[in-house]
Amino acid sequence: MSAVYRRIHTELCQMLFRQSSFTGAAEPLIQWLLPWFNAGFYAARVLQIKPQAGCLRLKLKVSRLFPLFTPGQHLQLRVNISGVPTERTFSICSSVQQLHDQREIELAVKIQPQGRFTGALSGELTPGNYVHLGAPTGDFAFSQDSAACLIAAGSGVTPFFSMLTSLSRLTVPVLFVYSYRGTEQLLFAEHWAALQAKFPLLQLVLWDSAVRGRLTPERLFAELQPELHGNFLLCGPTEFTQDLRAACLARGVSPTQVIAESFGLIQRNAATSQPVRLVLGRQQHDLVGQGSILQRAEQSGLVLRYGCRRGVCMQCLCDKSSGVVRNLLTGELSDAGAGRIQLCISEAVSPVELSSEGLIV
Ligand code: FES
Repeated sequence: MSAVYRRIHTELCQMLFRQSSFTGAAEPLIQWLLPWFNAGFYAARVLQIKPQAGCLRLKLKVSRLFPLFTPGQHLQLRVNISGVPTERTFSICSSVQQLHDQREIELAVKIQPQGRFTGALSGELTPGNYVHLGAPTGDFAFSQDSAACLIAAGSGVTPFFSMLTSLSRLTVPVLFVYSYRGTEQLLFAEHWAALQAKFPLLQLVLWDSAVRGRLTPERLFAELQPELHGNFLLCGPTEFTQDLRAACLARGVSPTQVIAESFGLIQRNAATSQPVRLVLGRQQHDLVGQGSILQRAEQSGLVLRYGCRRGVCMQCLCDKSSGVVRNLLTGELSDAGAGRIQLCISEAVSPVELSSEGLIV
């Protein structure tokens, strides 16, 4: 389907049904006949849900229709919270073989103490319940074409665990460094020794920052001496991956050798917050507060649609009619004219005007 056709289809459906697709519009009727149906999602049965290292580990059974994934990819997890379908994005942490042989997918969902989503997962989901999964996506992948250095912080370990457990053999030297805070935060603790024993070319470093101190770029390069000609894959909080990426480039590593996946936004101490006007239908809202535009909308009492809150799922896309925003993941500035922006990763750096009806939940 061409981009033009897709755009016309979306616009028509939005005009006629206030939905982005015909299937979305017809969904309530289809669900009346097939209660498990969710347009664009795959049904998955919960086999197990258990807390580990500050995460909820979910083991899910999927049907043969669920596509094979590339280790390192992420997907959307949709659950109904008080009757409202709500999505978040997570990396798959299980192996390709587990999907192929047992039709199982595993996720490790970081528990946010105040989080509505993880609260609902632990409070409402039990084995036997159904959730829905989007198709795996993303290009955060490991290839054995040269030596590699994989660096994870916190729950950023999940895509690497999928990569390592999916390997049948390792043909290049790999330095894998996993930084976590205290043994109670060590994910997949029962598997690391076996992985190290299985792959002689793997140098596994479990870096407990409660004991060894923070894993800084300086300490990484001084103490662990990764191969500078190899690939660097980084996953963790945005500031962690940005610092590491900058340190790699400063040591002559080519930008194409560094692939990063981040979560969380850059924290800035903006002295002033720029005016943002959001037009939703016939109502105008002048946003108060600080942070991303999504955060400011919430601080202003609005409930807008979102999924991952980290720039992946595109659910918070919104039309900007004017104003400059900064991308909180990359630091890039938009131009001042009309365009589409993701509210969860955009911060106003000039007065901004936005409009979208589809964002209200
Ligand atoms: S909420 Fe997913 S991109 Fe904004």
